[in-house]
Amino acid sequence: MLGRSYHIKTFGCQMNKYDSERIAGLLEDAGLRAVDAPDDADVIVFLTCCVREGADERLYGQVASLKRLKTAGKTPLIAVGGCIGQRDGEDLQKRIPHIDVVFGTHNLNELVSLLQRAAASKTPQVSRWEDSSAADFERLAPELREHPFHAWLPISVGCNNFCSYCIVPYVRGREVSRPLDEIVEAARELVADGVREITLLGQNVNSYGRDRYGEPRFAEALEAVAACGVSRLGFATSHPKDLSDATIAVMAATPAVLRYLHLPVQHGNDEVLAAMRRVYTRAQYLERVGALRAAIPDITLSTDIIVGFPGETEAQFEDTLDLVRQVGFDQAFTFIYSPREGTRAAALPDQIPHELALERFERLAALVQTSATERNAALQGSTQSVLFEGPSKRDPALMTGRTRGYKLVHVPVPAGADQSALRGKELLVRITGTQAFYLQGTLE
Ligand code: 5AD
Ligand code: SF4
Repeated sequence: MLGRSYHIKTFGCQMNKYDSERIAGLLEDAGLRAVDAPDDADVIVFLTCCVREGADERLYGQVASLKRLKTAGKTPLIAVGGCIGQRDGEDLQKRIPHIDVVFGTHNLNELVSLLQRAAASKTPQVSRWEDSSAADFERLAPELREHPFHAWLPISVGCNNFCSYCIVPYVRGREVSRPLDEIVEAARELVADGVREITLLGQNVNSYGRDRYGEPRFAEALEAVAACGVSRLGFATSHPKDLSDATIAVMAATPAVLRYLHLPVQHGNDEVLAAMRRVYTRAQYLERVGALRAAIPDITLSTDIIVGFPGETEAQFEDTLDLVRQVGFDQAFTFIYSPREGTRAAALPDQIPHELALERFERLAALVQTSATERNAALQGSTQSVLFEGPSKRDPALMTGRTRGYKLVHVPVPAGADQSALRGKELLVRITGTQAFYLQGTLE
């Protein structure tokens, strides 16, 4: 018996969000119930991220601070999984001895038995994969979805790209695609279960199927899932080098596919892109954006950008600023380069001092804010179809939802209306105000 309650703390990307829904499903199946505070939980699970140093440090800090629970006479079981669990394994447990279980990125199904063994034997348990080709999409307990109307649907795991700054291929393994019939079956079940929006997940969804010679590729997978009757269909993450004309054509022709693409560019200068091993040039990226906008003129485009990559000169950084101006992104997630041990870029000479990287980061962030503000302002007065998620975190009198271009919208709840009745509904909203990072509107 593991106790009665659990608390999951999730860091990092959407794959971790999905994994935490699966862990919630497994723990519920084992008879536990979710609680909001770690202090009230019998089992505390951390799903971790090591893509940048900041996420790494936060995790170590938070787990270390739970020692107070153990010394206060409580005996919650503490499990750490995800990318740091995979990367550090036994070392993590040695560094923080009050951790009971460490599990890797392909070891979710073992979590309950690891917890049971740790509880029974009072000895820590560690399990992580050695060979990622063993990755499987074996059915687990049904995930407990954060929003009943939204589901993550993994179509591949791992990454074969080895961008020189990135640790993901080392902790998530080589790319393995899930058979299409399995994906379609899962999508059908989700639709039958009332799911209105599906997000297809993979580190690089656009290369889906490349490891399954002769099998359908991403464009066909997108089409096949849309044919299951889901109202909205999104996907993440895309790699510009693999975004095919066929995929753009399916996006344009399929009403269920969101008018939104997250297309990480990482940098605006060709020498830096080559050093990053991104395998495309600035011109090739711009060509893909042109093809997307020609096919889907109102598409929302977001991106990821790294500043302060080793050796980045002022002129090279200005190429990034120039690219942001040229594309006019709706949103950009901006990061200061963080050396990750074991990656090629960590060994490069000429690492950029933090102050300089920070100064560039702030200039870039200001430009991104201007770009986002301008793009949102263009939606003033338009009518958008919004899927409602629930009350706003900032103000419970507001409902939040997302347009088909995946923009966040705040709408006042009409007097007398039941908030919960609006959750998971898609309704027309007139946009009455715009900010950099969200829109305001009223129900039509
Ligand atoms: N330093 C900074 N940012 C990174 N990212 C990945 N690795 C690093 C790193 N070492 C960023 C990339 C990627 C996003 C998920 O995180 O922009 O697209
Ligand atoms: Fe990392 Fe590059 Fe793979 Fe993305 S495509 S997960 S940045 S190695």
